[in-house]
Amino acid sequence: MNETIQKNLQYKKYVIDSNLEYFKPHSTKIEKTFAEDVSFSLNQNSKFISPKYFYDKKGSELFEKICDLPEYYPTRTEIQILKKIKPDLQKYLDDSFRIVELGSGSSVKTRLILDVFSNFQRRIDYFPIDISEILTESSELLQKDYDQLHITGIVDTYEGGLEFIENYDNKKNLIIFLGSSFGNFSPKEGKIFLEKINSVMKKSDLFLIGLDLVKNKKILEQAYDDSQGVTAKFNLNVLSRINDELDADFDLTNFKHVAMYNEKDQRVEMYLKSLVNQSVIISKANLSLKMSQDELIHTEHSHKYTISQIQEMMKDAGFEIKEIWQDSQKLFSLTLVSKL
Ligand code: AVI
Repeated sequence: MNETIQKNLQYKKYVIDSNLEYFKPHSTKIEKTFAEDVSFSLNQNSKFISPKYFYDKKGSELFEKICDLPEYYPTRTEIQILKKIKPDLQKYLDDSFRIVELGSGSSVKTRLILDVFSNFQRRIDYFPIDISEILTESSELLQKDYDQLHITGIVDTYEGGLEFIENYDNKKNLIIFLGSSFGNFSPKEGKIFLEKINSVMKKSDLFLIGLDLVKNKKILEQAYDDSQGVTAKFNLNVLSRINDELDADFDLTNFKHVAMYNEKDQRVEMYLKSLVNQSVIISKANLSLKMSQDELIHTEHSHKYTISQIQEMMKDAGFEIKEIWQDSQKLFSLTLVSKL
């Protein structure tokens, strides 16, 4: 048995049926618990909560709603671009490609990519990578609509899943990372992430990434502070989650959602602002939190890029740009690259 196969023995395989299987690591890296993370991040002078904690069941539902808001242009614009570029994208693909998606989608976007593949593949291999078990639900949904789809889900971190793919076989990969989630990384994290992707890619592989573009401050701030208050609910929900899961007593009416565009750092910053001097007990994090009026808890950065920054970022990470597609209003971009 060669080393390649041995490496993936770290995973246990679950076969659901002939078209659907999952791999899960036998043991996951010991990550900090929610309580440990919160205990650290709310105990700093500049308080923060990692955006990864937005996505409990309620938070994920609110995010779905955000994607449909009139002010939140990224989702519908990325869909528009994907629809437009289908024939262009197909030119780069052939029968020997599979789709590897970072994040598991059953959404319109994944389906648009699957539609491109169904034009020339009788069997489509789709490898979603997602740390959440939601992967199993979204895979089953997709399977209902695509007979020719063979799904191999990897329930792991993106890094773990990418290494799994690297060691799997020699088939060509189209790796997709849609939805501008890359913008939630800091520049340093983003660089490490791109280099990781590059390091697992073969020369013949391709990587398609959605990136949001720098634009008018007003459009950006409205996108993250919508008139129906859905983004505010999404932001505040992280406090409800702490109340429920860590036995805390945050009074949500004592906080306000704040979203502002930082032009210098080219990012929308989201905060929860304390409206009064207050104390909060977070029992399971062993924390008695004191906040003064107007003090902020940072909850998210959403970076925006110019086309020349995208070109530079990709070059620095060792990629060759094949195409950068934009919508007619230049709101959003999709970039296709290969390894240099
Ligand atoms: C998931 N991520 C790409 C979204 C964004 O636009 O940064 C999260 C979001 N936060 C508020 N609205 C949407």
